[in-house]
Amino acid sequence: MASSNSVKDLVPLTGSDARIPRIGYGVYRSNNCKAAVLDALSVGYRHIDTAQFYRNETDVGEAIRSSGIPREDLYIVTKIQHPVGNSVEKTLESIRESVRRIDSGEGDRKGYVDLFLVHTPASGRVGREILWRALELLKEEGGTIDIGVSNYGTEHLFQMETYTSITPVCNQIEVHPFCQQKEVIDLCKSKGIVITAYAPIVRNRRSDDPVLVAIGQNHGRHPTQVMIKWSLQKGYIPLPKSDNPDRMKANMDMDGWELSEEEMTQIEQLDEGQDGAICPYPLNCA
Ligand SMILES: NC(=O)c1ccc[n+]([C@@H]2O[C@H](COP(=O)([O-])OP(=O)(O)OC[C@H]3O[C@@H](n4cnc5c(N)ncnc54)[C@H](OP(=O)(O)O)[C@@H]3O)[C@@H](O)[C@H]2O)c1
Repeated sequence: MASSNSVKDLVPLTGSDARIPRIGYGVYRSNNCKAAVLDALSVGYRHIDTAQFYRNETDVGEAIRSSGIPREDLYIVTKIQHPVGNSVEKTLESIRESVRRIDSGEGDRKGYVDLFLVHTPASGRVGREILWRALELLKEEGGTIDIGVSNYGTEHLFQMETYTSITPVCNQIEVHPFCQQKEVIDLCKSKGIVITAYAPIVRNRRSDDPVLVAIGQNHGRHPTQVMIKWSLQKGYIPLPKSDNPDRMKANMDMDGWELSEEEMTQIEQLDEGQDGAICPYPLNCA
């Protein structure tokens, strides 16, 4: 079993000097994103996960500026879905705009994000290469510290070897007890690619699962907390989302308790493969 990890830990990224906070706060479908990010920062989150698709990069930018937290203490991730006009230059301009929305810089300091991801492999082989080339150029010019992918299956990762020498630092995929993604995670581990786990609490749809309820009772915890703890103990970086400050706190309250090896094994048995997935992104699309 992976060792227990504090949510305050910073995890090293292969091939990078940067380190990523052990837990992140996701803002997909955030009701009032600026206020939610400020609440999340005040309860201790330092890693925020947004995307062009969420249409709230500006809110994230406003929240981080008004939080008063030094930029270097924050870890901000965003994503692009599709290339613009099948052009690397136009795609690069689109991702520069994301950076400007999030962090326009201050004085001599140029704005940047910590991690820019290709949101989905759905643009096809040529589209994926355009997106990656634009991200590489953004990294070269300092607009992002690192680059990575999301929803990439094994074939997409193998295919990257044909068009780039830069390994993504992270693959952000749906991972939780009901969709454990063993094949792609094994490949990512072998390449030193960190897994960030989206929908880590299955949008609260499986919190009545009797195994999770029983394990939660052993620890005086809610089943959603058991799912986040499982993710941390597996060595993933979970990205729970909540608009509710009490839930935000509960989702961070992971230190000082641990799932036993037997409980981890019980949770391993909940895997339903792709049938357990809630997001429509195919990790095996062409
Ligand atoms: N890369 C991708 O393609 C992709 C896809 C999906 C998501 N993501 C990222 O991953 C993040 C998380 O995923 P997600 O938002 O889809 O799902 P999630 O984090 O598994 O679940 C969020 C849902 O659970 C509820 N919730 C949160 N904490 C709870 C608690 N302690 N007890 C009970 N219910 C709780 C929230 O409601 P309240 O807000 O009312 O608390 C919300 O409805 C996203 O925000 C996004 O940043 C990425």
